[in-house]
Amino acid sequence: MCGVQKMSAEASARPARTMSFRAQYGVAACLFLPALALVAMSHVPDRVTTRTLQAMRERQEAITMLTAYDYPTAKIFDEAGVDCLLVGDSLGMVVQGHETTIPVTLEQMIYHAEMVARGAKRAMVIVDLPFPEGHLDIEHTLRASARILKETRAVAVKIEGGAEQAVRIEALVTAGIPVMAHIGLRPQTVLVQGGYRVQRDLDRLLTDARVVESAGAFAVVLECVPSESAKVVQQSLRIPTIGIGAGPHTAGQVLVSHDLLGLGGGHLPKFVRTYANLAEIISRAAKSYCEDVRQGRFPSSEQAFK
Ligand code: KIV
Repeated sequence: MCGVQKMSAEASARPARTMSFRAQYGVAACLFLPALALVAMSHVPDRVTTRTLQAMRERQEAITMLTAYDYPTAKIFDEAGVDCLLVGDSLGMVVQGHETTIPVTLEQMIYHAEMVARGAKRAMVIVDLPFPEGHLDIEHTLRASARILKETRAVAVKIEGGAEQAVRIEALVTAGIPVMAHIGLRPQTVLVQGGYRVQRDLDRLLTDARVVESAGAFAVVLECVPSESAKVVQQSLRIPTIGIGAGPHTAGQVLVSHDLLGLGGGHLPKFVRTYANLAEIISRAAKSYCEDVRQGRFPSSEQAFK
């Protein structure tokens, strides 16, 4: 019996006329606090989980995913209703300025993922296993993935690779770690492939997709594949495919947020649509600031203490 309930039970033994203020307060609290809690709970958005994504795939409701690397961006995307936030190792290219994703470390992924997870109230946060964490022995991959979940509060990892990753995916899922697979173009193998190319081997795509699904992956990213191949792959799977450069027939779409926001600079892949030009807006703001400082217009009395 809670304190408030106990107090009201004791109070009800007395005549109503003589009920103390504390007892009356207790009765009111017992009546209204649960109602208030219910109202508050109705404003907490349901978290997106693996089950949500599977249900969306079954209802043919498009799944949205964007990359995020920090708290403010994660919070904005989360509040905008993006279903999944991917802390991608594209971090190496769009945030760190490297030419590939290879230099990104596990420590760096954890550092960024922790900020992203703090900014996400509804969106599912998924973290890339950086090179070579998903290609070493199973125990190593398990330890790296467990660190990601424990230290960041993200809820799933993404691993690059298809059929050859089946044993790792099985081991991770058995240990309780949800896995998103990533087939088609795999940026971590760019040095072997000699560049980023559209992946046209449909037999291989189908084998990879079916094997990662059987191994327990809850979803699979399909990168840079012809639209018709992506359609065939999605039709042959129960789990959702999330496409990037894979056309319109996948269950969901993902983009690197710096590309979407016009912060990417340089050459953009054909599959990108830029929805804002933040580079221009930021540059204009920085130039105006410099002008104002140089002309003595900033700070004005409004930005100064008396
Ligand atoms: O690292 C990343 O951002 C990714 C997406 C391109 C899917 O893997």
